[in-house]
Amino acid sequence: MDRHDKIRQLVELREQARLGGGEKRIAAQHSKGKYTARERIEKLLDEGSFEEYDMFVTHRSTNFGLEKETYLGDGVITGRGTIDGRVVYVFSQDFTVFGGSLSETFALKICKIMDQALKVGAPVIGINDSGGARIQEGVNSLAGYAEIFYRNIMASGVVPQISAIFGPCAGGAVYSPALTDIIIMSDKTSHMFVTGPKVTKTVTGEDISTEDLGGADIHTGKSGVAHFKAESEDEGLLLIRKILEYLPQNNLEDPIATECTDPVDRMDDQLNEIIPDDPNQPYDVKDIIHIIADNSEFLEIQRHWAKNIVIGFAKFGGMPCGIVANQPNFLAGVLDINSARKAGRFVRFCDAFNVPILTLVDVPGFLPGSFQEYGGIITHGAKLLFAYGEATVPKITITLRKSYGGAHDVMGSKQLRADINYAWPGAEIAVMGAHGAIEVLESKALSELKDPEERAAFFNAKEEEYREKFANPFKAASFGYIDDIIEPRNTRPRIIRALRALASKKDVLPPKKHANIPL
Ligand code: HXC
Repeated sequence: MDRHDKIRQLVELREQARLGGGEKRIAAQHSKGKYTARERIEKLLDEGSFEEYDMFVTHRSTNFGLEKETYLGDGVITGRGTIDGRVVYVFSQDFTVFGGSLSETFALKICKIMDQALKVGAPVIGINDSGGARIQEGVNSLAGYAEIFYRNIMASGVVPQISAIFGPCAGGAVYSPALTDIIIMSDKTSHMFVTGPKVTKTVTGEDISTEDLGGADIHTGKSGVAHFKAESEDEGLLLIRKILEYLPQNNLEDPIATECTDPVDRMDDQLNEIIPDDPNQPYDVKDIIHIIADNSEFLEIQRHWAKNIVIGFAKFGGMPCGIVANQPNFLAGVLDINSARKAGRFVRFCDAFNVPILTLVDVPGFLPGSFQEYGGIITHGAKLLFAYGEATVPKITITLRKSYGGAHDVMGSKQLRADINYAWPGAEIAVMGAHGAIEVLESKALSELKDPEERAAFFNAKEEEYREKFANPFKAASFGYIDDIIEPRNTRPRIIRALRALASKKDVLPPKKHANIPL
């Protein structure tokens, strides 16, 4: 072989590797409305930026005659590239090779890029489309999964990890995505479950379809396991790029501020009118977010699950910021098990990656009842409380309307180390709402009043008195729990000024191995 033959050989082998499991299987992949593993990487990364690693790796198994069937790359494409010019590491499982199933060498390839991403301090993006453990490799495949889980855990809170699920994802394989920060599922073509429909039927007798057990609707609407449902793979891949705009490369860096085309001193009179006069009338807190954020842009996370709390990313004056907001439009914005879990994890995600947190409060309290108590609302509610108390990033809290009871403390109160607390003039900050308070405080007097009219008049008068005294922000402001009461129309400029002032904030936790958050 002369040098030209050798170069030709390299070109041919690369061609062979690019074909994965062959043209027939690629056609089958396309016929299901799915891209191939390589096409996904091309679409995800900046054009021409992908540098592939381990293209010539093959499996080492000789079980079940496997030595006669090898594919260059062994079913997973790994490497690095850039997104908006910033380095990211990526693996993409190739369903055309043994159904994207995970072998020992497949796992080693993923581990290699994860190790490097951790040393470099760059995000890891995993695109999952796999039949799970490669059955012929037995325990080596299980060990491979555990190696990946371990790296997911080591990388957690150090570099952002994002998982796209674009095909089957079953058995223990779901736990690698579950250990990452964000999961995106493609609609109708992806599934996640620990045990599939067949085993479910055998063990429990339950007859359920793949889609109903672990489709994108289930995990974005019912279980909360996934953060986004993408209508198409294209949408999912674009979402990954979008999410990274709000995050730094790693925990030692700050998110990157970008140029802001929306005036930083923009006020909006609509905000002065947006809260209904009747304290029990709902409104959509997302309308407020859209008015105050740069260019009305808000990347909502877990939009379909626990809708009584809204979480997501926006920018203010070009500065990325996480937003947590009670949603009066759904269950009156009450805190319950799922909303506490949702917001608690998001607060920690922001804190891990130095993203400031803006909290918009309109919360009537915690949802009462046996369903919540039996489900452990005490523990789950404590997660959110814990997350806020532990977070050292800049925290700005604005009370829009109600802020009652324990929920007041939880939602970014001053005592949980919020840096700046503002309230709108119509805010009601108290132990409980006026109606409930009078029922408790005046129960004896009320029971003695037999005439219904007299009773109602007494009740109304007491309620009014309570409102005057407690259902306003001035009491809290008089104690310094609220730093200032602001005119709603000024909210955007006040947030931007606060974020600028707090950008250099330093805060530390006492030395410890790790906290014991109530999981
Ligand atoms: C080896 C596999 C495979 C696997 C699929 N293939 N899964 N090869 N190990 N786990 C191969 C098939 O033999 C086939 O090869 C090709 O991939 C495509 O598979 P099909 O079945 O033809 O495709 P489809 O009809 O789309 O069904 C996809 C599927 C199904 C739903 C993923 O293949 C399936 O149920 N596979 C088994 C899933 C499973 O039980 N995995 C183990 C889970 S336990 P050819 O040559 O025909 O193209 C697990 C433990 C992890 O993962 C533990 C971690 C702690």
